[in-house]
Amino acid sequence: MTYARIIGTGSALPEKVVSNFDLEKIIDTSHDWIVERTGIERRHICDSDETISMLATKAARNAIEMAGIDPEDIDLIIVGTATPELAFPSTACMVQRELGIQNCIAFDINAACSGFVYGLGIAKQWIESGTAKHVLLIGADTLSRVVDWNDRATCVLFGDGAGAAILSADEETGVLSTHMHSDGVGTNLLYATSSLSETDNPPKIRMRGNEVYKFAVRSLSDLVAEELKENNITQADIDWFVPHQANLRIIKAAADRIGLPMDRVILTIQDHGNTSAASIPMALDVAVRDGRIKKGHRLLFDAFGAGFAWASSYLVF
Ligand code: ACO
Repeated sequence: MTYARIIGTGSALPEKVVSNFDLEKIIDTSHDWIVERTGIERRHICDSDETISMLATKAARNAIEMAGIDPEDIDLIIVGTATPELAFPSTACMVQRELGIQNCIAFDINAACSGFVYGLGIAKQWIESGTAKHVLLIGADTLSRVVDWNDRATCVLFGDGAGAAILSADEETGVLSTHMHSDGVGTNLLYATSSLSETDNPPKIRMRGNEVYKFAVRSLSDLVAEELKENNITQADIDWFVPHQANLRIIKAAADRIGLPMDRVILTIQDHGNTSAASIPMALDVAVRDGRIKKGHRLLFDAFGAGFAWASSYLVF
């Protein structure tokens, strides 16, 4: 059996850091409210000259360097993003150009915050079927570009960033399972208008936070239970839980559901905020580089976002 195994990770953040105290100066909010309701303390925000393809390319270069492969060996580039800088071409093709790869397939997918885990499911199938040997998978978003900075209920939540992974064919182990779900019931509860719209320009995020919160807690908890059941494992078989970083309370609820102590949960929400599709690969990269996640560790990914679209994966790193 051929598995898709992560052999390199990378991430990239804009230099500008915006703290909760900075936000107190521009909207009616407080550091204490944001920390208590979300766990977020600061986030990185792109300057006007920074683009999503720059972040995605930087994250990709870091992942390629860790993997120790030649960029020309990459057969497929997938970028999960809901905030491409252009309607077309895809961000994946822009990354391909920046990396100077002559001959590979490149495309974007939009599953909002679940984009990276959806991409993992696609990459797994391409590698297991023998269609691709090396896949560059990126989750990247610049939600600051679609945030309404007058809406305190949403603008405090989001940050910008990109995370990347190189997945390669491996005969021993790798991604053991992925689960993807969607339910269009969420389309009016959480959405961002597009810069292509003539009526809603500049674009804005709109969210009915309480309803999204309830759906997220239920879906993420169900996903965790589904992964355990399908793989016939218990929480003892999970070395690290790497969840989507949307809200600390949502993460705690999902960890509670399987009795996983919080010291086995990778948390970056305090420093990154909700970076949408970038949040899981950036959290992964942080924990790989600081030595917590090691080769052979068993990981659980768990994501939820607009659509609604939610997804999970159980894998051996
Ligand atoms: N600062 C201070 N007060 C605020 C702020 C703020 N930034 N935002 C809202 N409030 C106020 C509200 O006006 C309200 O005041 P009121 O009681 O006088 O009316 C009060 O705080 C409570 O507001 P709620 O919306 O009920 O707060 P809640 O505890 O639900 O937290 C939050 C809001 C953090 C947005 C939460 O609902 C949440 O996390 N929702 C899910 C987000 C999510 O997971 N999104 C999915 C991924 S995102 C993607 O896919 C792009």
